[in-house]
Amino acid sequence: MKYKTLKGLQDILPPDISIWQQVESRAREIFRTHGYQEIRLPIMESTDVFIRSIGETSDIVEKEMYTFLDKGGRSITLRPEGTASFVRAYVEHHIFNNPPPQKFFYMGPMFRYERPQAFRYRQFYQIGAEAMGTDDPKLDAEIISMLSSILFSIGLEGLNFEITSIGCKKCRPDYKTALKEFLADKLDGFCSDCERRYNLNPLRILDCKVPACIDSRKGSPPVVDYLCEECSEHFNSLKHNLNLLQVPHTINPNLVRGLDYYTKTAFEVSSESLGSQKAVAAGGRYDSMVDEFGGPPTPGIGFAIGMERIIPLIKDSDDKPEGPEIFICPMGNEASEKALLLAEQLRSTGLWVETNYDNTSLRSQMRKANRINAKKVIVLGEDEIKTGKITIKDMAEGENIETLLQADEILKSLGREKM
Ligand code: HAM
Repeated sequence: MKYKTLKGLQDILPPDISIWQQVESRAREIFRTHGYQEIRLPIMESTDVFIRSIGETSDIVEKEMYTFLDKGGRSITLRPEGTASFVRAYVEHHIFNNPPPQKFFYMGPMFRYERPQAFRYRQFYQIGAEAMGTDDPKLDAEIISMLSSILFSIGLEGLNFEITSIGCKKCRPDYKTALKEFLADKLDGFCSDCERRYNLNPLRILDCKVPACIDSRKGSPPVVDYLCEECSEHFNSLKHNLNLLQVPHTINPNLVRGLDYYTKTAFEVSSESLGSQKAVAAGGRYDSMVDEFGGPPTPGIGFAIGMERIIPLIKDSDDKPEGPEIFICPMGNEASEKALLLAEQLRSTGLWVETNYDNTSLRSQMRKANRINAKKVIVLGEDEIKTGKITIKDMAEGENIETLLQADEILKSLGREKM
């Protein structure tokens, strides 16, 4: 074969696409009931947007960004995630002037130059949500509850919701000191990246995937033990409100996120069925990012669901894919033209109608109608054209309907009004 998709990319084809659309429409519905509005952001940004927010020493920025110079010599990056772009837009369009909380969602492709493996792609799709303007833990609980509603509504089971708090600017310095003290005599066991991170950003060592580093950092103190009073209260209130909303969750004091911008609440939803790439969704609070992007200090919280991770989990029922409402089988040239016109007339009312274009036998047309799961079939032969009468045959052995060969009559007998 001459051309193939690039490594780590995939085509999404029918019938899978209908599962994608179902997930998207469920999510849209749940966003609507929670007051989240859609935003569409560019898929590329100035590279600085990501470096500033995700963090210079994160794996994403250090190793995974698709960065290039455009023809004007500017450094451009394909978005590896949505939050940084969202905050850039939030500040650029002064959205902070709207009454809080301002709630948004997005759907679209993200790009990370990671080693491709099952459920890990270089272009992958996220459904994300961001809520701005309040740091009240009730909002944290509500957004996690909304995430659980989306995941449960599409039939996912056996998910593990893990939450933690990773502190704020106030408590982090103490934690960093404690972590560095703990790691000080273990540096020899670390990869060269982590050796560097030790001084630059020791928290990133907790996220390193190198087996030797995972081993060496075992037993490191959890950040929840170093929370300041404010963060501690915030975390307690989050737990209380999650219980109130009956969101099943566990506390994982060792949960680490791969992005630097998080403060206080962080969470991850995983499924053991996915193996090593088990995170299906993740998110957290980012109370300093708007400020760092030049806006007024504004707290925010959000999450993103990984589409390629949830689609395989959706119990693939044996349901046949949806087929057309009507398949018209013309016999001969005159009937072919009539079928072409009739199909267009019926479609104008919103019906999905298919017809046959080449001159094949009735038997082969019926087989095709069956294969594409057509619900009803109309045969258009010489007799039908001569008498002006047709039969709408129900493929599921329901009632056959006799009617006239006119779009209006057909629609009437199907109980459909013209649009
Ligand atoms: P993240 O944890 O980097 O967070 O990604 C969220 C989800 O995207 C992951 O849990 C996973 O399901 C999916 N994902 C990530 N990388 C890949 C990949 N290479 N292939 C397939 N799926 C992938 C964020 O992106 C944050 N922006 C979430 C957020 C929103 N935090 C606050 N607001």
